[in-house]
Amino acid sequence: MIPTLLDVDTGYDDALALLLALRSPALRVLGITCAAGNHGLPRVIDNTLKILDVANAPRDLPVAAGVRQPLVEALRPLAVNIHGADGMADIGLPPPDRSPVAVHAIELLRALLTGADTPVRLVALAPLTNLALFIRQYPDLAAAKVSGVTLMGGAYLAHGNTNPVAEFNIRQDPEASRIVLDSGLPITLYPLDPFRSLTFSLEESRTLTTHPSPSLSVAGRILVSTCATMGRATAMIGDAGAVATVIAPDKAHTVRLPLTVELMGEATRGMTVIDRRPAPQRGAANEWWTPSPTQVDVVTEVDVAAYQQLFVTTLADQATPASQGDPLVS
Ligand code: RIB
Ligand code: CA
Repeated sequence: MIPTLLDVDTGYDDALALLLALRSPALRVLGITCAAGNHGLPRVIDNTLKILDVANAPRDLPVAAGVRQPLVEALRPLAVNIHGADGMADIGLPPPDRSPVAVHAIELLRALLTGADTPVRLVALAPLTNLALFIRQYPDLAAAKVSGVTLMGGAYLAHGNTNPVAEFNIRQDPEASRIVLDSGLPITLYPLDPFRSLTFSLEESRTLTTHPSPSLSVAGRILVSTCATMGRATAMIGDAGAVATVIAPDKAHTVRLPLTVELMGEATRGMTVIDRRPAPQRGAANEWWTPSPTQVDVVTEVDVAAYQQLFVTTLADQATPASQGDPLVS
């Protein structure tokens, strides 16, 4: 089992990602940190806790509150046109039967990584403020105990979703994104290109709602509701695709490329500037910029059918105990 920590801004697709991560026998989820993004922090925490109940996650699986806004800018307007009024597709799950731990997200990361006997994968599905602050506060611990970061963010060839070129998680906090991406940690970037390819139709989603597994039936209800919210015949599983690349990396195609985050652009702030030029053309004497030393593994495409099947078969099994987190001294 791959020891895993998730940073989320639950959101309908973070909910799907949490269900996949918690129900997967391949991952051992050690803890979850929450950031503001798709919704304000209190709602993100509440949504996250509700999903842990659905997934029958271990009672001692720690969830911690993180930051309430990006490093520099105010929190952007909520995307109710995507995530619904409650931030999680408005399907009316019961109040959570569990609470967050008393420590801040950064301290939860410190405690869990310190206690981990092998390096841990960070799965970043939200604006990167929590992870940036953790890396700044505990750089040696990050270098020693983070095996790598799988980061939903940015765009490779795809157009942006907050402006013509920038993706939401990166644009929400470009400075934090720059800190994480330039940290030296191995980064796998899951951009909007594969993000938009993994969908279920309204009919497929309706079928999922009738499944006896609570995780899969709730996933179906989220997808059906999201089709209605967005007025579409299909819904993306979004962040869940990033989790799928951790579970089954062989079904994702990656290419290692130089990348930086645009901080200054009037029209392009938050853009992931990926250098797709042939290597010999990079850093030539007549360059009109300073090339970025950062290189990341960009997921350019995924095996859609394989990840759709992985999602359904994993959530269909509600019998196997959910991911065994490490009990944290609360
Ligand atoms: O741009 C998509 C990302 O922004 C996803 O993580 C979604 O949950 C939102 O946070
Ligand atoms: Ca998210």
